[in-house]
Amino acid sequence: MSDTEQPVSGPQQTDPVHDWTTDYDIYDAEYVNDPTPVWKDLRDSGCPMARTDRRGIRSWLPTKFADVQALAKIVPELSNKEPLVISLPKDMQFGDQTFNAPPISSDPPEQIWTRRMILPAFSPKAVEKHRQYTVDLCNSLIDGFIDNGSCDAAVDYAQQIPPRVIANMLGFDPAKSDDFTEWVRGVLELGLFDPVIRVKYREIIREFLIDEVSSRWENPRDDYLSELLAMDVPEMKGQEVKVVVGLANLLLIAGIDTTWSSIGSGLYHFGTHADDRRRLAADHSLFPTALEEILRFYSPVTMARVAQEDVPFGDTVIKEGEKVLMNFPGANHDEDAFEDAGKVVIDRTRNRHIAFGSGIHRCAGSNLARLEMDVAIRTWFERIPEFEVSDPDAVTWAGGQVRGPRRLPMKF
Ligand code: HEM
Repeated sequence: MSDTEQPVSGPQQTDPVHDWTTDYDIYDAEYVNDPTPVWKDLRDSGCPMARTDRRGIRSWLPTKFADVQALAKIVPELSNKEPLVISLPKDMQFGDQTFNAPPISSDPPEQIWTRRMILPAFSPKAVEKHRQYTVDLCNSLIDGFIDNGSCDAAVDYAQQIPPRVIANMLGFDPAKSDDFTEWVRGVLELGLFDPVIRVKYREIIREFLIDEVSSRWENPRDDYLSELLAMDVPEMKGQEVKVVVGLANLLLIAGIDTTWSSIGSGLYHFGTHADDRRRLAADHSLFPTALEEILRFYSPVTMARVAQEDVPFGDTVIKEGEKVLMNFPGANHDEDAFEDAGKVVIDRTRNRHIAFGSGIHRCAGSNLARLEMDVAIRTWFERIPEFEVSDPDAVTWAGGQVRGPRRLPMKF
């Protein structure tokens, strides 16, 4: 059994939380299963910015939409050099100089030129060329289980899609997709709490990418990595392989369990809310608003910033070295920003959610993520319009950096 085959519903529980305002824990089992009551209580308590000293460092958890947006603008004082939500020894962070993940692990100016390198491949028009591949992939996955009348919609479906789309885009062998998923979970999920697992999977990814990028540096191919290596970017000169390894590292890490989580959350929602499922099955014109609402309500991604100096914020001061969790999911549940924030409204028209972040680090892959979600959930509805979660108690969620269902038994 590989490390990542263990059933996961969030990392190990530590001490129970008695006061969420001064000792929050995003790895608390109840928070992992459903964080929304905690955010609401924090906002209602008049202390919407919680803090904790757990895991050896003070960190802050804002829960108001306006606060998260404002914090995202405090750059570079609140830096992305350590984008992980918990503290790790220096040699295990994304920001490690020998193996980084720009632009997410960089501040300007490096963040600006590395982001510029990848943006063209993720424009709405550019991502369209991955649609047919994704449609065919989703259909072939469904072919594999439709006659059984049941499947695990997280493991057999949602989890299978993003690694293959990314492998196809980056020019990697799609047969390695299961490995990619295992590696990314090893870094972002299990490895968050187990330095041995984390280092192991970081090394595997690093070696794999160095091989792939170096071979294209020596013999360019007609693929995306070769295109990145050939870009005329003055800042990259002399370190092309290192820069492209870093970019590919981020695209693998950022594109896999995020999108898998959102596809899984969508299927979870419609598999547990028959009214919404029937409505969407009867009227596919609701897809655009329904998917944005899934992104808002089940936002998967929380990232961290680290203060480079004392940063006064509201009634408090975020001291140098302290962390702030960019609680995009919590912000998206703020009643001051969204009417009926606690309800999924599949025809919500005013929905300026920040599931893809806010400010200079806003998700560079959002158009690809939306395309994958649209194709995955639409194809499922076309082939399997009637379905339900067969055992809600058997559903497990990964929490922390990226939240989404990891076991999702479905019958149809
Ligand atoms: C539903 C799926 C996704 C969600 C919810 C999501 C969410 C996010 C969020 C919240 C950030 C900002 C992080 C921060 O502020 O530190 C981010 C950054 C990023 N995402 Fe995504 N993401 C998704 C899918 C993807 C995909 C498919 C790709 C590309 C393959 C991608 C590539 C990136 C990149 C490159 C950045 C860093 C941008 C920068 O630092 O300038 N993401 N994403």
